[in-house]
Amino acid sequence: MDTKRSALATLHAQADACRRCAIATTRDKIVCGVGDPESTLMIVGEGPGENEDRKGEPFVGRAGELLTKMLAAIGLSREDVFITNTIKCRASTEENGRVFNRAPMLEEIANCREFLDREIAIVKPRVILAVGAPAAKSFLGAGFGITRQRGIWYAGPAGTDLIVTFHPAYILRLTGGQIDAVKRLVWNDLQAVRRKLDELKQADEVESVDREGRPFQPRPLQEPELKLF
Ligand code: URA
Repeated sequence: MDTKRSALATLHAQADACRRCAIATTRDKIVCGVGDPESTLMIVGEGPGENEDRKGEPFVGRAGELLTKMLAAIGLSREDVFITNTIKCRASTEENGRVFNRAPMLEEIANCREFLDREIAIVKPRVILAVGAPAAKSFLGAGFGITRQRGIWYAGPAGTDLIVTFHPAYILRLTGGQIDAVKRLVWNDLQAVRRKLDELKQADEVESVDREGRPFQPRPLQEPELKLF
């Protein structure tokens, strides 16, 4: 196993053994990040829901299906990126014998931060896309307002460029004309991510050509077939 994969496997085992929060005893499976550990892009969501808890994998339910479509719209597959969450256990609440997903508590996000930070340190992404307000707040503070402050580049952890967009589960809850309006905003944010990845790639190419002493021949930025998800 390569170094990054074995470091992620160790992290997975340690997160599985963690009992800092009560939800560690109510969840089924621990849900750590998956995807390409060499990826330049890391997606950070809120936390596992029922489907993720059952499977032990992030974003495998309906929100995950939409996230996959959103990535495809900018020419990326799930396997091309690294996908994780702010917390690794399902945050749930029980009412009348039924179990519901709930938003993670600040304390749970703080307790789990070590595991997210270690995923970032292992994968070393250059760009982080935080989806939804809880993920955004965990990086940018409790005062972050997603409506006004999404779609802007911020200095993220460990030298990353960080941008925030709406959570796919939020899009799925919308009705009527709101759906298209919000999808357009998300689409703008996704295109900003695509441009950032292309710029970073081009900058790396310039540097590698310089190191070998050859004159730089700019190649046009690859324009993938972009379409609204
Ligand atoms: N929503 C999230 O934020 N993360 C998941 O893994 C699934 C749904």
